[in-house]
Amino acid sequence: MTSPIARRALLAAPAALALPANHARAQATREFRLGLITPPAHTWNQNLTAWGARLRDASGGRFTVTLFPSGQLGNEATMLQQLQTGALDMSLMTTSEISNRVDPIGALHAPFIVPDIQAAVRMLRHPIALGLLNGLPQAVGCVGFRYGMVGMRQILTRDVTNTLADLRGKKIRITPAAPTRDFFNIIGAAPTPLALPQIFEALSNGQIDGVDLDFESTINNRFQEICRTMLLTNHFAFPAIGLMSARVFATLSPADRDLIRGTMTEALDALCDSMPEREERQLAQLRTSNMQIRPAGPEFFGDAVAQFDRQWGPRAPALAQLRAAFPRG
Ligand code: BEZ
Repeated sequence: MTSPIARRALLAAPAALALPANHARAQATREFRLGLITPPAHTWNQNLTAWGARLRDASGGRFTVTLFPSGQLGNEATMLQQLQTGALDMSLMTTSEISNRVDPIGALHAPFIVPDIQAAVRMLRHPIALGLLNGLPQAVGCVGFRYGMVGMRQILTRDVTNTLADLRGKKIRITPAAPTRDFFNIIGAAPTPLALPQIFEALSNGQIDGVDLDFESTINNRFQEICRTMLLTNHFAFPAIGLMSARVFATLSPADRDLIRGTMTEALDALCDSMPEREERQLAQLRTSNMQIRPAGPEFFGDAVAQFDRQWGPRAPALAQLRAAFPRG
């Protein structure tokens, strides 16, 4: 005798079988919208375009990814809200806005944990850093797959800067992030939060005196033609996170979650692996400009690192752990 469950399955079968094959395929096809603050020519966008093609192939054509570059969907704070509600599926976003909401992430914005980009790549794959991603679904409603990175941060100024005193009271653009704001307050500057697409106008017309930035965005905007000095500080390794809305993630099968996590991890690891060679080339290009490039390590900033650690150590326990794991000589 046929069981009730088997009977129901038999009754359902003809309807399913009657669906044309292309309808079944269309049902399963899904477009993911991915928002970015960076412009189309940026390394991130190229990396993620290649990842989208890889995901499409690896999913047998079921998944496509459409990029929304240049902050078209809003700044990172707005995109994070969209991810939380599920209005946006994915983003590669700096840790700035997340550090505003999740104190422990502030550890990654601490000045002078690592000396160079090679060590920064190792740091972002260290279990201490990776462990910070586990709290994101609960804290900000997003799954954090893996770290990418912007690159090492430097300070560029319109005027010549020789000493820390030259930075006092200067309006230095920062990415809107509480730990970065605190560091620039500690060093006596006037941190001015501006999203990436807003910097060009503000620096060109002198509304700000300088910028906290990486080599790639400096070159893309030709800031070496506006600024007289770049303090070559490498003062922190600016991370980014490949994020997916936790609401959207929950709708996927375990196999599809693994597919997206796996392919994005490969893509962001490739991005980070390419950074040392990329930054070497970019620095060589900047050295051909008229901008003075002045090395400035932690000693340039007096006791700012100790002051920062006193403020952020209790809020971001991973900070002390990272300092211990990456001792500076
Ligand atoms: C910035 O805010 O400085 C930034 C953000 C994303 C990529 C590059 C730079």
